[in-house]
Amino acid sequence: MDMTHVDLQVLGIESSCDETSAAVVRLHGYGPPEILSNIVFSQIDEHSAFGGVVPEIAARAHTERLDGIIKSALDESGLGLAAMDAVAVTSGPGLVGGLIAGLMTAKAIAAATGKPLFAINHLEGHALSPRLAGKAEFPYVLLLVSGGHTQIVVVKGVGDYERWGSTLDDALGEAFDKTAKLLALGYPGGPQVEIMAADGVSGCFNLPRPLRGEPGCDFSFSGLKTAVRQNAEAAAPLSQQDVANLCRAFQEAVTETLAERVGNALGRFRDDYPDLANAALVVAGGVAANAAIRGTLKDVAEHHSMHLIAPPPELCSDNAAMIAWAAIERIRSGIEPGDGLAAAPRARWPLDEQAAPMLGSGKRGAKA
Ligand code: KG4
Ligand code: ZN
Repeated sequence: MDMTHVDLQVLGIESSCDETSAAVVRLHGYGPPEILSNIVFSQIDEHSAFGGVVPEIAARAHTERLDGIIKSALDESGLGLAAMDAVAVTSGPGLVGGLIAGLMTAKAIAAATGKPLFAINHLEGHALSPRLAGKAEFPYVLLLVSGGHTQIVVVKGVGDYERWGSTLDDALGEAFDKTAKLLALGYPGGPQVEIMAADGVSGCFNLPRPLRGEPGCDFSFSGLKTAVRQNAEAAAPLSQQDVANLCRAFQEAVTETLAERVGNALGRFRDDYPDLANAALVVAGGVAANAAIRGTLKDVAEHHSMHLIAPPPELCSDNAAMIAWAAIERIRSGIEPGDGLAAAPRARWPLDEQAAPMLGSGKRGAKA
């Protein structure tokens, strides 16, 4: 492949958790990236009865829908498969059944057409998504907060990531989802907790601030989740207002914790790059939809003379456009496809391979 080629069209495929997605992204000359299609099918209905993602159901749903969604994404782009320069697919980290479904489909397409296959790290997709959306220049600080991941990564360049912190136990989205489940607010819980918190009164419940005062940028949310349960049990039966007050207390504990942990990261980043103009904190992942969290992060960024970039919601949550884009960034940086057709699914795959392995793990795969 001609690595200096700047007219690139890539088909992306994502199936690592509970979204089945296919997209076509194009980068033409020095113009902005163009998302020609980005079809996302959420499996929320399949999983909601269980209050969380069921891996077997997810794998089957991906297998059933992938072909149709890929065809729709190609049709909607106005370009055929023949016009693609490469196929990009998430090969980890994530639920292995879903990863296999996506990887097998992508390999079949690549083998049949002779196009190069890029096996992409899902976390790299999130890490580079602000550049697909607009202007983020390297280096920047990324806070990734989703149902499966909670980490702070310094993004120095394509393929050059340094993890500064991550959760020692639950992911932040998971803590929202478990809080919602406990309070019978439905799934996914994050949006429900945010809505309830808006009607809550501060100061009615006293919840811990995990790792407060500790140096570094790691997170811990399982103690907070336990405290929510204990408070709910002590105050039972809960009125509607009690539930709102508890959601409020939970969200406040989360925003204060994020402010402190992210503040530590930005202080360190500023020490490392004192003269960097236009320095940015980027937030990605489904939890980035939370307005209270965004507001807090904006304040923390400004406190360190930085600005907050939040990609649009459709690029924050799981989608295939960010996977196609990661491949485009790799191609134009001259990075070879790597394993190509021999790529294997990886349930765990840290973005920063140098970082120490994480302590926490769970049924949704690597949380780091
Ligand atoms: O990135 P995402 O769509 O999927 C993955 O987990 O990879 O993130 C979904 C997570 C869920 O845990 C959901 O509850 C949470 O993001 N979430 C929110 C909000 N909207 C979605 N959490 C807090 N506040 C929200 N408004
Ligand atoms: Zn994700």
